Amino acid sequence: MKDLTCEGREGLCRVEIRRARREDIPRVVQINRVALPENYPEFFFYDHLENWPEIFLVAEVEDNVVGYIMCRIETGIGFFHLLPVKKGHVVSIAVLKEYRRRGIGSRLMVESMDAMKRVYNAKEVYLEVRVSNEPAISLYRKLGFQTIRRIPGYYSDGEDAYLMARLL
Ligand code: COA
Repeated sequence: MKDLTCEGREGLCRVEIRRARREDIPRVVQINRVALPENYPEFFFYDHLENWPEIFLVAEVEDNVVGYIMCRIETGIGFFHLLPVKKGHVVSIAVLKEYRRRGIGSRLMVESMDAMKRVYNAKEVYLEVRVSNEPAISLYRKLGFQTIRRIPGYYSDGEDAYLMARLL
């Protein structure tokens, strides 16, 4: 995957986007816990890595993992195709606070959507996002996602989700 150069407070930095490895999982779990209220047990991450290794990516800056995206492939009636299709599902994405707004989240999304299509023959991609999560919603809109519907009480604290999707 092509590296990304981004500009931060400390000047330019090189970000490597690559497939996650088993040894990255403890760090990914840590980033998930600090960045998101939706936390999963470690085995859930290992399971995704084992089953869908091409769409579990990390962003690394100077040997430090600073973000990840974990996705899966499902088969079902499409949001755009009215027949069973393979759909990529973005299960979790997060970038450490200090590294946000430098294009890392976009690159993780773009690279994983490319692999969903190329490797797994997925025709669509979808995700759920908290209705209050403006940064994430605006990232997904920028990448061409449409809001399909609102899911009442989707999250354990009662917040609604938007289901967003796009064609691949
Ligand atoms: N406010 C408004 N728009 C924002 C934003 C913010 N705080 N952060 C990102 N965006 C939008 C902008 O359109 C931005 O483009 P721009 O910087 O050219 O204006 C675009 O998204 C791309 O941003 P990018 O730098 O690629 O994203 P990122 O690396 O900051 O990562 C998240 C975005 C959502 C992954 C990051 O904010 C994050 O980890 N949040 C906490 C975890 C989370 O909410 N995950 C999503 C769960 S569904």
